[in-house]
Amino acid sequence: MKKPDRHLITSALPYANGPIHIGHLAGVYVPSDIYTRYLRIKGEDVISICGSDEHGVPITLKARKEGVTPQEIVDYYHALNKKSFEDFGIEFDIYSRTSNKIHYETASEFFSTLYNRGEFIEKSSEQYYDTEAECFLADRYIIGTCPHCGHNAAYGDQCENCGTSLSPTDLIKPRSTVSGTKPVMKETKHWYLPLDKYQGWLRKWILEDHKEWKTNVYGQCKSWLDHGLQPRAVSRDLDWGVPVPVSGAEGKVLYVWFDAPIGYISATRELTDDWEKYWKDPGTRMIHFIGKDNIVFHCIIFPAMLKAEGSYILPDNVPANEFLNLENDKISTSRNWAVWLHEYLEEFPGEQDVLRYTLCASAPETKDNDFTWKEFQARNNNELVAILGNFVNRTLILTGNYFDGEVPPLSGTDEYDREVLAEIGVLKDKVASALDAFRFREALKEAMNLARLGNKYLADTEPWIVIKNDREKVKTILNIALQITANLTIILDPFLPFSVKKLRECLNINVIQWDNAGRDDLLSPGHKINKPGLLFRKIEDEEVEKQVNKLMETKKQNEEAPKEAEPVKENIAFDDFTKMDIRTATIIDATRVPKTKKLLELTLDTGIDRRTVVAGIAEYFDPSTIKGKKITVLVNLEPRKIKGIISQGMILMAEEDDGNLVFISPTDETKNGSRIR
Ligand code: MF3
Ligand code: ZN
Repeated sequence: MKKPDRHLITSALPYANGPIHIGHLAGVYVPSDIYTRYLRIKGEDVISICGSDEHGVPITLKARKEGVTPQEIVDYYHALNKKSFEDFGIEFDIYSRTSNKIHYETASEFFSTLYNRGEFIEKSSEQYYDTEAECFLADRYIIGTCPHCGHNAAYGDQCENCGTSLSPTDLIKPRSTVSGTKPVMKETKHWYLPLDKYQGWLRKWILEDHKEWKTNVYGQCKSWLDHGLQPRAVSRDLDWGVPVPVSGAEGKVLYVWFDAPIGYISATRELTDDWEKYWKDPGTRMIHFIGKDNIVFHCIIFPAMLKAEGSYILPDNVPANEFLNLENDKISTSRNWAVWLHEYLEEFPGEQDVLRYTLCASAPETKDNDFTWKEFQARNNNELVAILGNFVNRTLILTGNYFDGEVPPLSGTDEYDREVLAEIGVLKDKVASALDAFRFREALKEAMNLARLGNKYLADTEPWIVIKNDREKVKTILNIALQITANLTIILDPFLPFSVKKLRECLNINVIQWDNAGRDDLLSPGHKINKPGLLFRKIEDEEVEKQVNKLMETKKQNEEAPKEAEPVKENIAFDDFTKMDIRTATIIDATRVPKTKKLLELTLDTGIDRRTVVAGIAEYFDPSTIKGKKITVLVNLEPRKIKGIISQGMILMAEEDDGNLVFISPTDETKNGSRIR
């Protein structure tokens, strides 16, 4: 493969409606930063692009809920997130935002180019419209009853109760969350990108020409392509976003997923006048760092847009990661189940590298992974402190003690010395080939193996004993240990920027370029080093227990928090109520319905008759415990055959927040057959 002239690294633009947490860092920004730093220390021409994604319906919903403007929301989170990245040493060349003027221009131009060339399909369709608020309703703005589970506050795009994805017209009894009124269908026009037209080209470009992509990415693309691509609407009826630059398109904006990836281009334009070199010259190698929920947008839709435009290059690779969980539970902003970057720094000031290290060492590269505070502590204490810190510290202290802080000369080597020196180059190559393939966990492990090698070398050669009778040998040992330390400042640079900076200060050296790694003469004899500073400190049990307790407290609060009460159903007429014949009754027998998990066959004494009712309560009650129970039952429900049994009626039950079921029971004195009204 020809060596690229330059690299363009993009990292998914995070939505500016919440802070950054460890899941974002592990999935996207730590890998992209490691990769960028690696290219930089290799002396490559590289720029790293990121910024805030500031459009989309969730931002407008949040603004509405908090009674502020969307601009105020994004201003707040843009500043917060920009600072979090800076604090963690995630070095973007620019952290831009999609509410910038230059982005509006870039996105509009992009749309216009495709529009003028007739690349879009124009289609009118009926969509829900709120006549009182006078606006079309995005899917999330409509709630109604789920056709699958009956949940009466399902959203127009998904029912959060049963998880089914919906379209707004699936909802029974839809209502607008803007005005609360019933929306009407109204015709509206939108522009569609005909993805189906690019299907053949995409198949070849991805499935044949990019077999080297990570299997999780390749697999997802293949599945999309195998299902067949459909035209996708690239505009929305909304008043927040980039206006559709076509006359007669008032009140319409570009769909957020159309404008956001163009944000990479706008940000590059903002960064440099030379932006076209990065975006249009085939000598550029473009890499998108993203999480798995962004794969279709970066591997299929954005490339189709770029291809349709025609003058842009396409990504060379899209090394998407899976998700990171936290203490065995999905990270969730709304449940506050996360470790937020700004909060971490309050608890562990100056210890960014410990988090960077842990997140890289257990990054969700091939499958979802779990972050636990225990592992965080173990990685710090057993690896950063015990291996890296220990080796470096011993080397620097011994050099100070025996040679007054001056690098001793290599004073003759034996076979073991030469083996160790040769191994430095081997490890460097292993780190490089893992990084080249986006295998960051493996790369970090190999880099740490250099510190392991150093530790073992000191333990085997025991300079603190040899010094008593062979000072020359100790010169060699410490020279080698110091060369290993200098090599560590190169190969750990992409991973642990803060610690490596300190280490360079101890060694009294500047940045050494990657190509020099593997050499055994990075420090010349006589070079003066400084007193060692502490790179890492032990993290105590109490510290991580405190963090776990904080999470447990969150969990408790979530459980205690009253769930949002289900909205009241629509009014019914009094007559509708009186049609129901509800009576008190006693369960006289109960048995499981064979081959079912949920069903019980109940025999009731209703005071009128003995009858059979089949009820879906077997998961909550053991048949033997409910015999003799006083209950209430709707007796005039049309009989239904369930699993071959005629069920005559419906038992009334209360469903608690956690799904638990409780009988509605009259007192023991109430006679069976009493009417309820
Ligand atoms: N904001 C999106 C997310 O957080 C990512 C946008 S990436 C871009 O999922 F390409 F669109 F910018
Ligand atoms: Zn549902």
